[in-house]
Amino acid sequence: MKTIIEPFKIKSVEQVKFTTKEEREKILKKAFYNPFMIPGEDVLIDLLTDSGTSAMSAKQWAGILDGDESYAGSKSYFRFEKVTKKIFGFKHIIPVHQGRAAERILFTNLLSDLDSNGRYVNAGEGRYIPNNNHFDTTRANIEFNNGTAVDLVIEEGKHPSVIHPFKGNMDLEKLENFIKKVGAKNIPVCMITITNNTGGGQPVSMENIKAVSRICKKYKIKFFIDACRFAENAYFIKMREKGFEKKSVLEITQEMFSYADGCTMSAKKDAFANIGGFIAMNDEELYMQSKNLLIITEGFETYGGLAGRDMEAIAQGLEEILEESYLQYRLRSTEYLGEKLLENNIPIIQPPGGHAIYVDAKGFLPHIPPEQYPGQAVVCEIYKSGGIRAVEIGSVMFGQYDKKGKLIPAEMELVRLAIPRRVYTQSHIDYVAEVFIEMAKSKKKIKGYRIIEEPKFLRHFTAKFAPLK
Ligand code: F0G
Repeated sequence: MKTIIEPFKIKSVEQVKFTTKEEREKILKKAFYNPFMIPGEDVLIDLLTDSGTSAMSAKQWAGILDGDESYAGSKSYFRFEKVTKKIFGFKHIIPVHQGRAAERILFTNLLSDLDSNGRYVNAGEGRYIPNNNHFDTTRANIEFNNGTAVDLVIEEGKHPSVIHPFKGNMDLEKLENFIKKVGAKNIPVCMITITNNTGGGQPVSMENIKAVSRICKKYKIKFFIDACRFAENAYFIKMREKGFEKKSVLEITQEMFSYADGCTMSAKKDAFANIGGFIAMNDEELYMQSKNLLIITEGFETYGGLAGRDMEAIAQGLEEILEESYLQYRLRSTEYLGEKLLENNIPIIQPPGGHAIYVDAKGFLPHIPPEQYPGQAVVCEIYKSGGIRAVEIGSVMFGQYDKKGKLIPAEMELVRLAIPRRVYTQSHIDYVAEVFIEMAKSKKKIKGYRIIEEPKFLRHFTAKFAPLK
């Protein structure tokens, strides 16, 4: 049988609301042309993110009821600990309320020194953290602690139409040169994000993870994995990397993490949970410091800002995500949307990523320069035309200003269509493709945007825009 079908059936459904184009134009204007400010209820197909938007299984919901809410030593924590240790293999695993809390704990600890009273001093200055590509919150947590986030993805990873099986790989030569340039002592940790979200949901090969680990060991630099979409990455390795065809996703995952000193994880992605995450490590000192900061800011060690029921849902979700029929369906259904767009000459990052399709807005709307945010224009247009919500990953998210206030654009201008896990059916996806195809017919008429208000960090969440005439 060639057809890959959803490896689940639907037990519970949620009504979606239909709106007219006129209504959507008003809603978009009221949201200052920023999809983050559109009420979720007014969105027909929500591809803003795959984070926290998964449909939980009946067994996860059962776990929610079964969750133990003890402040200390909850049974749900012990289940969570057992599952995460089996999969990721680290000595210490601390739950947190979501991925960015893990990042804050990691970077606060590694970018600061402690005085004799255990208080943080000397945050960040002159310290660097490389990654294939930092995601927005990772970069922001580093910069907020005065550190410098550096992206060292391979050259192929920066060109949407270039095909490479592991476009998320780190450029090893650049990494080693960078270490020599700034000095290993100024790099408290090196990271790698699997899959590489900012660069198109592209996987990293086992060979690359191993090589980055080797370089880090050579220079005595800690190596952490941003593990959000680890299972999708593992399945890509199974399909594309020689020697892994016969290994199970669990075995591949265990090998990936065996090369690292720790990881940060948002359970809102590859754990099918609506909230949660963890930070894991082998290092005792870092563990003690992390636990300390956790208790001050998140909660006690056996819940870390989560309810017992959340840990139960994560533990169950982590077991489900390793099922290969699911991962096969997941990667194929994302690819299906990519193929439909490509067939209709809508440029995307190729090959399709794991959790999302990334439309190349620069290639799609060449008449709109980066200073007028072509990605934002696409995002607004698909909402207006079809009630679809997506996110810009380009100069709105990653653009910076030079000293004169001129925009330094991002490397790529992308629009991410992130697919929530187990939520939409094939006809929903066909509809998304149809909206794009219709829009493409009059794309020359689409205009750019300007920013009228923005905060200093993570501006894409709350910036306000106005359409250009
Ligand atoms: N790292 C990566 C690679 C991510 O994609 C995210 C979140 C985080 C860290 C932070 O995790 O949201 O639980 O605090 N990405 C979401 C997204 C928000 O839409 O891609 P969080």
